Formats: sequence, structure tokens, C-alpha cells
Amino acid sequence: MTLRVAIVGGGPAGIYAADQLVKSEVDVSIDILERLPAPFGLVRYGVAPDHPRIKEIIKALQRVLLHPEVRLLGNVDLGDDIKLEELREFYDAVIVATGARADRDLGIPGEDLRGSYGAADFVSWYDSHPDAPTTRPLEAEHVAVLGAGNVALDVAGVLAKTGDEMLTTDIPAHVYEGLKAKRATDVHVFARRGPAYAKFSPLELRELAHSPNVDVIVHPEGFEVDDASMAHIAKNKQAKMVLDTLSNWVGREPTGKPHRIHLHFLEQPVEITGDGAVETLRTERTRLVGDDSVRRHRPDHRLGRPGRLPRRRLSQHLGRRPAVR
Ligand SMILES: Cc1cc2nc3c(=O)[nH]c(=O)nc-3n(C[C@H](O)[C@H](O)[C@H](O)COP(=O)(O)OP(=O)(O)OC[C@H]3O[C@@H](n4cnc5c(N)ncnc54)[C@H](O)[C@@H]3O)c2cc1C
Ligand SMILES: NC(=O)c1ccc[n+]([C@@H]2O[C@H](COP(=O)([O-])OP(=O)(O)OC[C@H]3O[C@@H](n4cnc5c(N)ncnc54)[C@H](OP(=O)(O)O)[C@@H]3O)[C@@H](O)[C@H]2O)c1
Repeated sequence: MTLRVAIVGGGPAGIYAADQLVKSEVDVSIDILERLPAPFGLVRYGVAPDHPRIKEIIKALQRVLLHPEVRLLGNVDLGDDIKLEELREFYDAVIVATGARADRDLGIPGEDLRGSYGAADFVSWYDSHPDAPTTRPLEAEHVAVLGAGNVALDVAGVLAKTGDEMLTTDIPAHVYEGLKAKRATDVHVFARRGPAYAKFSPLELRELAHSPNVDVIVHPEGFEVDDASMAHIAKNKQAKMVLDTLSNWVGREPTGKPHRIHLHFLEQPVEITGDGAVETLRTERTRLVGDDSVRRHRPDHRLGRPGRLPRRRLSQHLGRRPAVR
């Protein structure tokens, strides 16, 4: 007897689940229900356009969709168009693989000001997600990106590179026009922990410095490595490679390229202020406490006082909720 399976979500998780099922001994018939008209989830609508190598995975996902036992049903939203109980009635099994649609709040004052975006919100613009607006004002010269993961690197890269540099990618005309019109000269990436805990991929980090238009500057303040950091990199090869690269770059002078990405460590965002729109980001220096975590410095701590970025210097910040769930 054929096992009828509904998979909700046509991203990599849903499609790989289908792949495993068709490769199994079980006789299956699979419907993949996807709320968007097109499949591939964040591979299509999240991975940065200047990472064509990663987008290549679409070819492997496409092969699964061409399997005769797999059917893709686009424009079907679980919750709106059909309920889980109904699916359970029609199918023998239901797999929910709907990914992470919403940004996570940081929980700091001012994060809802105009000019403050969650990363999911921002990347959906440059990847032309059907739900995203086609225009995105990019008027700020100094931009803060909060968090030290690959999404922060993606966003910083797209903002720092010139529109023309992105022309070799598959960005649509409206995104190219938006990027060409942007005014960002300096993009500041803030990590609340030390450099050993940056969640960058080594290759993505190194590639950032290949841009002919972007100097990557690692600021020495906060570039601290303690015994716990060393124990962490001893267990984590990627973190060690990232730390090696950052160590080579720390304190390096900019070479005069027109745009800069600044990497700041041990800086926790605490407040965004502005009159209706973002004007200032306030961060506090943190310190390593020997167990992979950090604590904020008390104002009277000998290692530093809360840091304040000059008013109006950061007139916009992005990546307010850096981890896209
Ligand atoms: C900005 C960004 C960039 C990334 N870049 C890379 C990268 O370069 N390299 C890398 O390896 N990883 C990257 N990742 C991680 C990778 O994209 C994700 O791990 C992966 O896409 C997760 O797959 P998923 O199928 O769980 O979720 P998703 O890719 O989000 O797919 C979920 C699918 O479910 C659909 N869906 C949601 N709700 C419903 C509903 N109610 N009904 C029907 N369908 C629904 C969505 O439309 C979507 O198509 C990136 C992630 C982000 C956020
Ligand atoms: N090219 C690629 O390979 C690529 C590109 C993009 C995304 N991805 C993948 O997609 C997934 C998601 O990436 P991601 O960058 O969104 O998540 P991530 O790797 O988890 O990084 C999130 C970053 O945000 C910080 N952060 C979280 N909450 C914070 C808060 N309240 N205040 C300050 N900082 C905060 C985290 O700091 P802590 O570490 O201190 O928590 C971390 O530095 C990852 O698996 C990533 O590798 C891969």
C-alpha cells in the first residue's frame, strides 16, 4: 500500500525529507505544500546573491522535485489555506518543515524605530521575496549590523559592496538600483562576545576582504582571547580558522578603498535612540568571564566604561534580530 505523505514547506528541509522518503524501501506518494509560488525557501530568498556557489544547491533540490512520486503544490499556506487537522485526515503522515519566518526581537529600547530592520526583513528585499517591498531606502552613511554570524557578514557585504560589484549576481533591476543609490560608506558589525566566538564561516570571512571596494577593519579594542576562548577553538576547527584570520587582520590599517566594514568585539547593543528614526546606537563593553559567556562591565569597572557611539554617526542599523529563526 502506498504511504501518502504531506510535507509542508518547500525549503531544503522539506525537499531533503522527500528525498529520503523516495530513496527508502517504502512505497510513497508525496505532496510538498509551499506557501510561496516558488520552492527552495531561504536558498532562494535568504542566501545572499553574491554567493552563487551556495545557490547551486538548487540544482540538487530540483532533481528531487522532478521525481515522479513527488508533487509540489505552490501557493498553499498551512494555517490559512488548509489546517493541520485536515492534512492529517487526507494523508497518512505529515512533516512540517516551515523554517523560520520571523525575526527575533532583541528586547532593547528603540528597536522599532524607522531605519531598524531585522535581518530576515532586510535580506528578503535584496533576494526579492514576494512578501518584501521592492523599494528599501538606504540613506545612512554609517550602518550598524548587530551579531557576528554569517547573516551579519552577508548583510554587511551587500551594504558595503558597490551596486556595480553586485551586477554579476542574479539581483533584479530594482535591487541593483537600490544598491547603486545607497550611501553607506562604513558598516559596523558588533559582536557581544570575543573573536573566538564569532560564528562566521572561515571562507565567507576571507572572501569579504577580496572586494576591490571594501577594507575590512578589525578593531583592537575588545579583541580579547582568554583561556576559555583557547579551549573553545581547540574543540572547533572553524572557530580557530576564523580567529586566525581575524588575528592577522587586527589593527591593520585601511588601504584606502572607498568602503569599510568594521568588526567590533565585546560590544553589546543596549539602546537605539532617535526622533522617530534611528540616530544613535548605544553599546556597552562586555568582558569575557571564562565560561564562553560575557558579562557587561559595570560603569566603574577598571577595564572600561559603557561605550557610546557619537550621536548621528550611526543613523541606521540593520540586523536588529541577527538570528533568523
Ligand atoms: C539570510 C540567510 C542566509 C543564509 N545563507 C546561507 C548560506 O549561504 N549557506 C548555507 O548553507 N545556509 C545559509 N542559510 C541557512 C539556510 O538557508 C537555512 O538553514 C535553510 O534554508 C533552512 O531550511 P528550511 O527548509 O528549514 O527552511 P526555509 O529555507 O526557510 O524553508 C521553509 C519553507 O517553508 C515555507 N513555509 C513557511 N511557512 C509555511 C506555511 N505556513 N505553509 C506552507 N509553506 C510554508 C517557506 O515559504 C519556505 O519555502 C542562510 C539563512 C539565512 C536566514
Ligand atoms: N554563507 C553561509 O554559509 C551562510 C550565510 C548565512 C547564514 N548561514 C547560516 O544560517 C544560520 C543562521 O545564521 P545567523 O547569522 O542568523 O545566526 P548565528 O550564526 O546564530 O549568529 C547570530 C549572531 O547574533 C548574535 N546575537 C544573537 N542574539 C543577540 C542579541 N540579543 N544581542 C547581540 N547579539 C546577538 C549571536 O551572538 P552569540 O554568539 O553571543 O549568541 C551571533 O553572533 C547559521 O547556521 C549560519 O551559518 C550560512
